[in-house]
Amino acid sequence: MKVGIDQIGFYTPKWYVDMANLAQARNEDPNKYLIGIGQSKQAVIPNSQDAVTMAANAADTILSEANRDKIDLILFGTESGIDNSKSGAIYLQHLLDLPNDVQSVELKQACYAMTAGIQLAKDHVLAHPDKQVLVVGADIARYGLHSAGEPTQGGGAMAVTISADPRILAIEAESAHYVADIMDFWRPLYATEALVDGKYSSAQYIDFFKRTLTMYQQHTNTELSDLSALVFHLPYTKMGLKALKSILNETSESHANQLMKNFEASRVFNRQVGNLYTGSLYLSLFSLLVNADDLNSGDKIGLFSYGSGAEGEFFVGTLQTDYKKALHADHMQNLLRNRVEVTVTEYEAMFNSQMPLQAEDFETNYREDSAKFYLAGQQQQQRVYHQK
Ligand code: COA
Repeated sequence: MKVGIDQIGFYTPKWYVDMANLAQARNEDPNKYLIGIGQSKQAVIPNSQDAVTMAANAADTILSEANRDKIDLILFGTESGIDNSKSGAIYLQHLLDLPNDVQSVELKQACYAMTAGIQLAKDHVLAHPDKQVLVVGADIARYGLHSAGEPTQGGGAMAVTISADPRILAIEAESAHYVADIMDFWRPLYATEALVDGKYSSAQYIDFFKRTLTMYQQHTNTELSDLSALVFHLPYTKMGLKALKSILNETSESHANQLMKNFEASRVFNRQVGNLYTGSLYLSLFSLLVNADDLNSGDKIGLFSYGSGAEGEFFVGTLQTDYKKALHADHMQNLLRNRVEVTVTEYEAMFNSQMPLQAEDFETNYREDSAKFYLAGQQQQQRVYHQK
């Protein structure tokens, strides 16, 4: 039985900062951010959006009467959790008006958690083929103003439904994992911004990619040339490019050119949003499927997921017949097209306006937010979520 991604939904807030402007404000050459980092625009997250509301806004685009009553499990991957105990998945279930008998859990392993959700969902559907699983990855990537990681911030959410006979991508049974206890990126409980050893993290990412790709090839007798495209977790798009270039000498020139061309298609959207942490790999997959012009049903796509700390997984999916028809490409393109540019000063003010970690009541700037689901603030130590 084929199991995999049946639908893909996306959400990012409506504000962005231009990376050339940010570079100038930081006394950097714009090409460092545009080419060296590989980012053109960066999503700016208002204080009225958090991981829960962004997840709801993404998931809402792929829920319909046709699949609502089939979903019996929500798996919510995030490293921007809003509570140390209660799962964001329960807030999500409520906001999406999904029934009370839907099992709902939050998963954490840095940027890897959405992939963990997808693989667990696949096994769940294999055991219950008439059911579907809603898997969501939502995050705010925050490193701090003036930090080295600042040009690799961003935020948003990806949502997928995992089902039998999927319309978009059937996921192969085998995959390769590599896990090692390293400190390349982490966020202590007292911190709202991540700590990162950027150069070390980039080197570990490439090492994990090469290891898992080799393990996958050995376990499954797969040749690199069997794969029409490789998509990557993209904390910034140059990261994926570096990983891809590290293995191009292992294949023919024409195949290397094909992989490079498809990589360019796979980073179009990520370039305009920045880092989504858990959702980044799936935004890149979405970008590939919408923007590549030489992919066909039956083509195999290799996916590399990486979550700092660190866990890597390489797995493969097969494109399904008419996969393009199942993509909500217009919705996604409209969302990106209708965004509003803010100045660097406005971005800094929005960055600093995040709801503080405090017991006192707080009201967000939700009146400026046109998203369907939003965070109105905090009252009596409880988050207050609303929908339009
Ligand atoms: N034109 C073109 N490229 C330029 C340039 C210019 N004018 N100036 C610099 N560059 C290139 C550099 O050569 C470098 O390329 P390379 O990585 O291929 O060597 C790149 O731009 C970045 O420059 P660098 O000096 O290394 O930047 P930095 O010290 O400011 O740090 C990161 C960059 C990515 C390490 C930093 O932003 C970071 O730590 N981000 C977080 C990464 C992360 O999220 N990791 C964990 C999850 S996987």
